Amino acid sequence: MTTASQDSSTPDLHTTAGKLADLRTRLEEAQHPVGQAAVEKVHAKNKLTARERITHLLDEGSFVEIDALARHRSTNFGLGENRPLGDGVVTGYGTIDGREVCVFSQDFTVFGGSLGEVYGEKIVKVMDLALKTGRPLIGINDGAGARIQEGVVSLALYGEIFHRNVRNSGVIPQISLIMGAAAGGHVYSPALTDFVVMVDQTSQMFVTGPDVIKTVTGEDVTMEDLGGAHTHMVRSGAAHYVAPDEEDALEYVKELLSYLPSNNRAEPPRIPVPVPTGSIEDNLTPEDLELDVLIPDSANQPYDMHEVIRRILDDDEFLEVQAERAMNVIVGFGRVDGMSVGIVANQPTQFAGCLDIDASEKAARFVRTCDAFNVPIVTLVDVPGFLPGTEQEYNGIIRRGAKLLYAYGEATVGKITVITRKAYGGAYDVMGSKHMGADVNLAWPTAQIAVMGASGAVGFVYRKEIKEAKANGEDVDALMLQLQDQYEQTLVNPYVAAERGYVDAVIPPSHTRGQIATALRLLERKVVATPPRKHGNIPL
Ligand code: HXC
Repeated sequence: MTTASQDSSTPDLHTTAGKLADLRTRLEEAQHPVGQAAVEKVHAKNKLTARERITHLLDEGSFVEIDALARHRSTNFGLGENRPLGDGVVTGYGTIDGREVCVFSQDFTVFGGSLGEVYGEKIVKVMDLALKTGRPLIGINDGAGARIQEGVVSLALYGEIFHRNVRNSGVIPQISLIMGAAAGGHVYSPALTDFVVMVDQTSQMFVTGPDVIKTVTGEDVTMEDLGGAHTHMVRSGAAHYVAPDEEDALEYVKELLSYLPSNNRAEPPRIPVPVPTGSIEDNLTPEDLELDVLIPDSANQPYDMHEVIRRILDDDEFLEVQAERAMNVIVGFGRVDGMSVGIVANQPTQFAGCLDIDASEKAARFVRTCDAFNVPIVTLVDVPGFLPGTEQEYNGIIRRGAKLLYAYGEATVGKITVITRKAYGGAYDVMGSKHMGADVNLAWPTAQIAVMGASGAVGFVYRKEIKEAKANGEDVDALMLQLQDQYEQTLVNPYVAAERGYVDAVIPPSHTRGQIATALRLLERKVVATPPRKHGNIPL
């Protein structure tokens, strides 16, 4: 009931109806805590608001918000007069393709999305909820680092978040989207998560911005050059995907989740596919048969490993990770007979498929991600070795290449390796060899498994004979060719490895998909006992 002295728009808080109306008003205010004009400013920059991003990400109507009515408690520097509902971050839970997830989305319109005490507490709460309920956590980052007015309290909450990122690592998938200029603490939390997705031109990450850099070092750099999506994909390696726009970034995250389990105690989602009856031969498809003619006759002629990957995976669907970085190795997710797999493959079209520092780190990180989340690893090998050169040696190819060895050796998930062509030297060992614990190792008849290629080996093994031939005026080229041929016949094939069981079978390329699917079903029951320890000490 409204009294005569009351404005008709002011709810009477002495009544239930009035209390409900008051709640509605508060929740409405929480939707646009700093007004509609701020929303329009966001749209003008080709961006979605914090809430719109959640709406795009989650199944329609599934979002349940928590702490919508939280406000900061600070009175420093005039903050007491400005206490917007929600304090600049929207948190809660919902579903993606029917699977439960937790989410937070930072709101740049409130104090530049900067993190204060209450904002931090909200994120901490949703992180704890994700961990105890075993669901993935998706963080949408769009903020300017520590809220300067709140001082050390902001830093404390950052610490709480970082600590939880570390504790949650390998337990629940943690995925970060960068949707604006993320500075200071806003970049270290994403850096601790499994995947970082950025948006071209509208997202940046840096520890210190261009102004500070100019003051301290005198360097002139734009925000985009310093910390844009391409910088972090190609140069720093901090980004895993560069999206053309925000909608695409959110779609990529949804796809990523479709390959991952909700937590490390669960198996990845599986699309039910009937187990084929009959032999692998009986079930060959025209696409399978195309693999039999894919490898060029000349060992020096490259071919695109994507062509192999595409023919092995269901529906040609391959979700590549870090596609524009270290392109000499390809990593990403797909499915074989409905089962999730992580692909690690050398790419002969780039540096002939050599492993270098960036490729080793990219692949090592991916192998560890798959292992943490029970995604079997399929390795496709065509690698002439590690990239030689002083730059590689000085920058730590020993220490950084060792990460890939470590990652493969440590992984207990099902590991299937197919050698398509070259598997030379240390790179043979690294790339999912039997000796590093792979479960099923296959080779195509085109495989060349040896310490090095014929020209290098002959020059080394027969250097005395070649020197003598030169001194005697013999046809050295003809001799080299003859020796190379002899070397190839003796060592450069898959059969020496097959004799020793280093590869389990030499198979026609067309059988690869069928063999992988059969092996994946076999490895579903894989159990590995590892000795107790606090944790290993991966070279960092
Ligand atoms: C409080 C902040 C803020 C901050 C921005 N704002 N950063 N308020 N604390 N850290 C406010 C601004 O005053 C402004 O308020 C509004 O947010 C929008 O900011 P603009 O500067 O106008 O936006 P824009 O031009 O788009 O620039 C975005 C930006 C810039 C590049 C991110 O705001 C910036 O450099 N901010 C400071 C970044 C920073 O140094 N953060 C601290 C890092 S230290 P009004 O009211 O005018 O709209 C850190 C410690 C943790 O994070 C480290 C842990 C390892």
